[in-house]
Amino acid sequence: MSAARSHRVVVIKGDGIGPELVDAALEVLDAARGALGFGLEIDLREGGAGLYRKSGVSLAPESFEAIKAADAAMKGPVGLPGVRLPDGTEAGLLGGILRIGLDAYANVRPVRLLPGVEAPLKAKAGEIDYVIVRENTEGLYLSRGKGVGTSEAMADTLLVTRKGVERVARYAFELARRRNGAKQVTCVDKANVLASLAFFRRVFDEVGETYPDIRREHLYADAAAQALVLEPQRFDVLVMENFLGDILSDLGGATVGGIGLCPSGNIGDKHAYFEPIHGSAPDIAGQDKANPVSQILSAALMLEHIGERDAAALIRRAVDSALKNKKLILGPFGQPEGGTRHAAETLAAAVRQLAAH
Ligand code: IPM
Ligand code: MN
Repeated sequence: MSAARSHRVVVIKGDGIGPELVDAALEVLDAARGALGFGLEIDLREGGAGLYRKSGVSLAPESFEAIKAADAAMKGPVGLPGVRLPDGTEAGLLGGILRIGLDAYANVRPVRLLPGVEAPLKAKAGEIDYVIVRENTEGLYLSRGKGVGTSEAMADTLLVTRKGVERVARYAFELARRRNGAKQVTCVDKANVLASLAFFRRVFDEVGETYPDIRREHLYADAAAQALVLEPQRFDVLVMENFLGDILSDLGGATVGGIGLCPSGNIGDKHAYFEPIHGSAPDIAGQDKANPVSQILSAALMLEHIGERDAAALIRRAVDSALKNKKLILGPFGQPEGGTRHAAETLAAAVRQLAAH
């Protein structure tokens, strides 16, 4: 018999509620690992605003190298109030370093209405099930830290390249092909007003020509905001520029019970890391109140990425079943009844129980 498969994963707990969430995800990952018998070597590293405050860097160069050498990475949310750069933007964030540094160009944000979750829309569980693919290395965010101006004016530049759009569009079409959805990709842009986003649409269409089996659709971003609220059932995969994806993924999250339930993956051709789409909620940090589902589903996305598809599916089924049979109950703001640690224990137990059947 060959040796059991094993994967090396860098884990960064982050700031605020990050450590509690990551501990919860590690407990559930461990349950899945134990049940399905694969190896997971966890390399814990520091990163974020706490580290920035004490050392002046958000991530040590050795930690960045460790992420590059690992099979994948998972991080908790980062950022702390008051930790700011001289220009007023947040310091201690890792997006600029990791998304660009790892060339993780596809920010994959599944939006799925889970059973037992109270959502502001009338949809039933499973009816909302789409993925926002946010371009992650250019667009308006390319200006991060580089805005130009004077004391009287300030400009950020929205830059879109052919290579950047081609690869993220291809990612979206491939994803639609793999999913059991409507085999449809919606390009969200503002091609009616901005030349950069008209270009985005043109390149998207060129790539789409090579996927004749996938339906192509275009929506202006403002119309998309309305459609994501009024008829979210009709979406399968959506692809869009970085800044639009930032905004619309929070909007999508709100329609399925809040971003506390929403995982994400930052995926490139060589490297990938996984994280919740929300922030570090320092106001409730350390109080055992935070909802760990976003982090746990991010861990599931990571497992899928490193080839542990059964383990990923097992974790998702555990989350679904615990919510459905009310073993895991979420309050109006998504806070788990009984606390973060209790939610983690419940979900780890559900993983073990489902695996045994
Ligand atoms: C996200 C976050 C980040 C972003 C912040 C923390 C910089 O909101 O991942 O969506 O704007 O990309
Ligand atoms: Mn965001």
